[in-house]
Amino acid sequence: MLRGLGLGLLSTLAFGCVGEIVGGPVNTEEQTPEQLVAIKAWTDNAEPALRNACVSCHASQLNINFLPGEGLAMREALLAWAPAVVNLDAPSSSRILTKGPHSGPAFASDKIPLVLDWIQKEKIAAGSLEEEIILESPAVRPQLCTGGVPGDLTCPINTIPLDSMGLVGATITFVAQPTESALYLQRITLNPGPSGAYIEHPLFVTFPTGVEPKPDTLDRYFNVKLNLAAGAAPAMIQGGAAVFVGFSALDDIRIHFKAVDVFQAEDTGPGTDPGAAAGCKVLESFKANARGLLQTSCASCHANPANVASSAVSMIGLDSPDDLVLKQACDQILLRTNRQDIPNSSIFLAPAPTNANHPFRFADAGQLEAFRTPVSLWITDERDAP
Ligand code: HEC
Ligand code: HEC
Repeated sequence: MLRGLGLGLLSTLAFGCVGEIVGGPVNTEEQTPEQLVAIKAWTDNAEPALRNACVSCHASQLNINFLPGEGLAMREALLAWAPAVVNLDAPSSSRILTKGPHSGPAFASDKIPLVLDWIQKEKIAAGSLEEEIILESPAVRPQLCTGGVPGDLTCPINTIPLDSMGLVGATITFVAQPTESALYLQRITLNPGPSGAYIEHPLFVTFPTGVEPKPDTLDRYFNVKLNLAAGAAPAMIQGGAAVFVGFSALDDIRIHFKAVDVFQAEDTGPGTDPGAAAGCKVLESFKANARGLLQTSCASCHANPANVASSAVSMIGLDSPDDLVLKQACDQILLRTNRQDIPNSSIFLAPAPTNANHPFRFADAGQLEAFRTPVSLWITDERDAP
């Protein structure tokens, strides 16, 4: 069994019968005082805000109907929606607040505090349930990479052990570099221990001294599930690289999880970032928008088996006329993209003019943009492909 702060648990234990009481008075006997506070914030503020701006599409459209029904039934469905759009572990990172303009509008800035206030109250209500288990890794103060390749004395690999959560011998490792207002982590990797490893929804949190801990503002790994058998190769988490805005190298990092466990034998397949697992789906878009630019700027190293670059990211096959061979290159490159946050894909961060640790850099921001804009069209197509 998986352990964790499951919203499924919440919805069965705490909200058991509320689904039937649509918008009406609440049966106080079933609710803790904290839950009543959360329900009031929902009814008075959060639901009206969502109803005005979001329900027109999110009540019924397939795969995004996280606001079905009304009243408390809507609240229950929204809290239980997977992949989570409300994150009780990190309320302000909740995707309903951070989504921004998309096919629908961004939340109006005066509505965000109302909905955030509701989520914070839900967090307190959830905390008042005895069943909650917080899954939090030990703290690690990142050691910085100042040059060389990962593993060099000048480029230490940071290790967060997962033993305290029951995963003896398993770790998450990464290489860290500071940027002006952020921490750039690379090679974020899950290493299964002797029991294998299953993790769900890791959330990076920074702990500045004297103030509240700050979670990843994007909640970027909201849909990550990794399931590695004992002895399996370590797996990078969503391409392995990410920029954590507001994180400082001077502060500790911990990782929160929705679930941590030994390898789940009944789970289907290796389990990973779902988008990447399936590989490239839109090879035509890859050919039209990305292949030529990758060929020009990256292939001399990354498609050359004699160059270590090809073991970091293999682009071997990029120039092949055979679609099956080309797809292998495309699959490898796709693993280094971040479809939730496209500009922060590794393939754009690595060759950025400011990244001193990659052998090739675009000369300036304009050149990076000339690469990033067309290649992003392909990543967008991969993200939106059925
Ligand atoms: C005109 C239709 C429309 C409206 C209105 C709309 N959305 Fe969306 N929303 C979409 C579509 C289509 C998607 C799926 C594609 C995407 O992720 O951009 C989506 C996706 C999302 C997702 C990601 C869902 C997931 O599971 O990945 C979130 C979060 C979201 N919307 C929040 C909102 C919020 C908050 C509002 C109101 C302020 C809103 N949307 C209003 C059409 C809409
Ligand atoms: C001059 C050779 C060279 C060129 C050109 C080059 N790279 Fe690299 N790249 C490397 C090497 C070497 C590594 C492995 C470094 C290491 O082991 O960390 C690497 C690593 C990477 C990584 C992985 C970084 C990580 O987080 O582990 C990415 C992503 C990447 N390159 C993308 C690109 C892209 C995109 C281009 C083209 C725009 C490009 N590279 C062009 C040499 C090159």
